[in-house]
Amino acid sequence: MEKAYYITTPIYYVNASPHIGHAYTTIVADVLARYHRAAGHRTFFLTGTDEHGDKIAEAAAKAGMDPQAYTDMVSAQFRALWPQLNITNDYFIRTTDENHVRVVEYVLRKVYDAGEIYFGHYEGYYCVGCERFYTDKELVDGLCPDHKTAPEFRKESNYFFRMSNYQDWLIDHIKKNPDFIRPERYRNEVLAFLREPLEDLCISRPKTRLTWGITLPFDEAYVTYVWFDALINYITGIGYPDGADFRVFWPVAQHLIAKDILKPHGIYWPTMLKAAGLEPYAHLNVHGYWNVDQSKMSKSLGNVVKPLDLKDKYGLDAFRYFLLRDMVFGLDSSFSEEALVQRLNSDLANDLGNLASRVLAMAFKFAKGEVPPRGAEADADGALREGAQRALGETRENFEHLSLHKALIAIWEFINMVNRYIVEGEPWNLAKDPSRRDRLDTVIYNCLEALRVIAVLISPFMPGTAEKILGALGLDGKGVRLDSIENWGGLPEGNKLTRIEALFPRVEYVREEKAPPERKTVMEPVKPEITYEDFEKIDLRVAKVITAEAVPKSNKLLKLTIDMGEERQIVAGMAKDYKPEEMVGRYIVVVANLKPTKLMGVESRGMLLATDTEGGLTLITCDRPPKTGARVR
Ligand code: MSP
Repeated sequence: MEKAYYITTPIYYVNASPHIGHAYTTIVADVLARYHRAAGHRTFFLTGTDEHGDKIAEAAAKAGMDPQAYTDMVSAQFRALWPQLNITNDYFIRTTDENHVRVVEYVLRKVYDAGEIYFGHYEGYYCVGCERFYTDKELVDGLCPDHKTAPEFRKESNYFFRMSNYQDWLIDHIKKNPDFIRPERYRNEVLAFLREPLEDLCISRPKTRLTWGITLPFDEAYVTYVWFDALINYITGIGYPDGADFRVFWPVAQHLIAKDILKPHGIYWPTMLKAAGLEPYAHLNVHGYWNVDQSKMSKSLGNVVKPLDLKDKYGLDAFRYFLLRDMVFGLDSSFSEEALVQRLNSDLANDLGNLASRVLAMAFKFAKGEVPPRGAEADADGALREGAQRALGETRENFEHLSLHKALIAIWEFINMVNRYIVEGEPWNLAKDPSRRDRLDTVIYNCLEALRVIAVLISPFMPGTAEKILGALGLDGKGVRLDSIENWGGLPEGNKLTRIEALFPRVEYVREEKAPPERKTVMEPVKPEITYEDFEKIDLRVAKVITAEAVPKSNKLLKLTIDMGEERQIVAGMAKDYKPEEMVGRYIVVVANLKPTKLMGVESRGMLLATDTEGGLTLITCDRPPKTGARVR
């Protein structure tokens, strides 16, 4: 039977425009789908948008729009983006689609009829950003650990799914299927979570509070909780319950998500499926987060990276290559444009781009722009052939484990091998000796064949580039098959070649001088009132710094001797902002009657006053030379 492959991305919320995080997941899914199609598997690739719930209703209200009009608009943005990134999804699902609504009702009814949904009361902390309740234990300092915002306290009567009934089954299933959730760190995270008793899942919202959702089929007064609705997209998209595609693709379903939505996918979804009498998905593949220059991407930080900007600036395939080559699947990565440019110049322009230009130029110069006949094989040729097989084998193996960056490394080893083959084969010298024509043809043939192998191997990652290379070799760049490179020599002799422009022109990285972020002065809360008498207790004095030196082993502290009418030693946390010699001679203001203390073992009798500036701390000092030791009034 034909092997089937089904891959999904999360369906994205329509409260924000797509950024590189969304682009990454969708590009990875595309690479996997393209690879499996090239492997001859019957493939289905699903993506879409998640459009119900508080968060979307709030975003629509903020935009002053009706929720349906708003979701139509943003969903269309996602839909329009994907073809521009060369994404080949087979279907685009929206949770507001009529057929999805029918399937959600169908599943709810099924689980309800099975007695697995009941009516109950709930109170707890709810994060609208995550669209879920948090337990006290999960909150960090009372805030949502993801959004760092204070959750709302909500008290409601609602419908609950008896998720707790499936805890033991789920633990068992995960243990029996080591690859069910992968990589292992995320499997362990889910298992750790399951060590605590699993609570039932609240799956409704009263319409008095939220109307933007799917009405429960058994109670008109409630809409469905957005996660219960959204997860079901994965079966709606392939025609559940009756579609033929559902029978083919559900048994091999693989989801692709980032770590942020591990819990709904690792816990809610398999238990929901079980309760609805369905088999769990085959694999949940979890990747890490893209941060930007080490910080989390966020609108408020103004560091959101837009995929189309990068595509326009550097080209789509360079952008795709960078994302796939730089992230180790499962771990976080930090995006930087400079790193992208480095990769573009080294791996793409130097290694791959130069190889393609060099080989084609050679074929035009020495073989009249045609694939020459392939003569007798020499040792170097055998090694090249084996190199191609190794690259294919490693690509296949790494795809099994989603180690896409390793697959690329293996392909690049082969690219470098071909570059060496040319240097060592010295075709330019062979061309000088007519008796070596046969050898020259063979070397050129092998280089062209190697280019074909490379094009097939990179085609899931960089489909545009693969097409260009195959086109230059006189081949059809569409419908690429991996098995076409299982045997060396698939490139027909006599094929007409075409010249192509440089695949990846080098680019210069220009660091954009960013205007410093506009900082609003946020006043710290004013402390509680004190009386004049209270203030009088603080003895503030003017002093002159006589000596200053760094406190050993501290990068913050300076030891100062000051003249305050009497000589004193104080320790101040100014070393990051002032060199010791810069302190000497300055007039400072000191709290003179502060209880002596020791900082890093050095005695301090007083504390100087300083305040924050954009660039660090600055001393509070005097406009005109004061009398040392004078009181500050
Ligand atoms: N609507 C839910 C998913 C429902 S699936 C049944 C949702 N949407 S989302 O718009 O917030 O998308 C989250 C997903 O977007 C992540 O799991 C990941 O695939 C992608 N990413 C969003 N930001 C990301 C990064 N900074 N880095 C990597 N991927 C990220 O959650």
